[in-house]
Amino acid sequence: MKILITGGAGFMGSNMIHYLLRQYQDVQIVNLDLLTYAGNLESLTDIADDPRYQFVKGDIADPRVLDQVVPGVDLIINYAAETHVDRSILDARAFVQTNVNGVHELLEAVRRHGTPRFVHISTDEVFGAVMEGESTEQSKFEPRSPYAASKAAGDHLCHAYAVTYDVPVIVTHSVNYYGPHQFPEKLIPLFTMNLLEGKKVPVYGDGMQVREWIFTEDHCRAIDLIAQKGRLGEVYNIGTGYRVPNIEITKKLFVLTGRDESAIDYVADRRGHDRRYALNADKLRTELGWEPQIAFDHGLAKTVEWYQTCGEWVNHCRTGAYKEYYEKQYINRV
Ligand code: TYD
Repeated sequence: MKILITGGAGFMGSNMIHYLLRQYQDVQIVNLDLLTYAGNLESLTDIADDPRYQFVKGDIADPRVLDQVVPGVDLIINYAAETHVDRSILDARAFVQTNVNGVHELLEAVRRHGTPRFVHISTDEVFGAVMEGESTEQSKFEPRSPYAASKAAGDHLCHAYAVTYDVPVIVTHSVNYYGPHQFPEKLIPLFTMNLLEGKKVPVYGDGMQVREWIFTEDHCRAIDLIAQKGRLGEVYNIGTGYRVPNIEITKKLFVLTGRDESAIDYVADRRGHDRRYALNADKLRTELGWEPQIAFDHGLAKTVEWYQTCGEWVNHCRTGAYKEYYEKQYINRV
């Protein structure tokens, strides 16, 4: 089985590569990644010499690159994406390029080369804020940030290619992931690093916005199942039902890092901030028998422990792009 993981130097892609190599002896993995700011090959040093693994630096939006890596592949899992909402508010160009044009080029490459299965990773944010109840696979797309709009456009393309050309694609919408190797611009790794370094944490608005959370390992298992047994042309939500306001997570992080509420900086809210996300994942549970296995408090403790001991990995994140971005955001907000 030869699998192309796009965006494999990022948080979820690198976790999935580790998962697959652990799980399957006879797997061949090609990791196609452009190594933009959030890609970090330090996440893959332990497997860099594994004969089952190959890294290719390149862009999913470049058909010439895809013509080199796609032929002969049994499965593509597309993790390549611009993912950070705040960045999309500052400048959406890269989001449209990768999340829309990149997905289009992947779909075309799947058609050209007759790839048998293509799993596209997407987000619950395409459904917009859900003040009550849950989004199902049938819910209407109502994206409210440039990031969410770019993901929705990519998802629409997948659907259209499945209908029009019978492209064998499956789309997954996931709740917020967390775990080791996540770039420290997202809530959990950013707050964890700040707290460990004695800094304050910028809580947007009143901190009562609700997100639903999944530990990376649970997500990898879901994707593996969907890739193997999911029905082509279908959509699967991936969620745990674990929904909490950001301030509750912040408080849990205080306990795990030995800090307290004096570390909170209530800063101006994100523009157009979605108040609540909630996914219904019944289809994944009943059809494929998936259940989350990692309780949030356990996953969070493992995550904080990893950031305490990740050494070299974190230095990569302290280079220009992150530093510049973080300082800009933070200064804008206080
Ligand atoms: P984030 O990790 O950016 O994921 P998303 O916006 O895709 O859900 O943010 C998670 C929540 O945490 C979201 O409600 C915004 C909030 N947040 C803060 O309050 N402060 C921060 O510095 C960040 C990055 C996020």
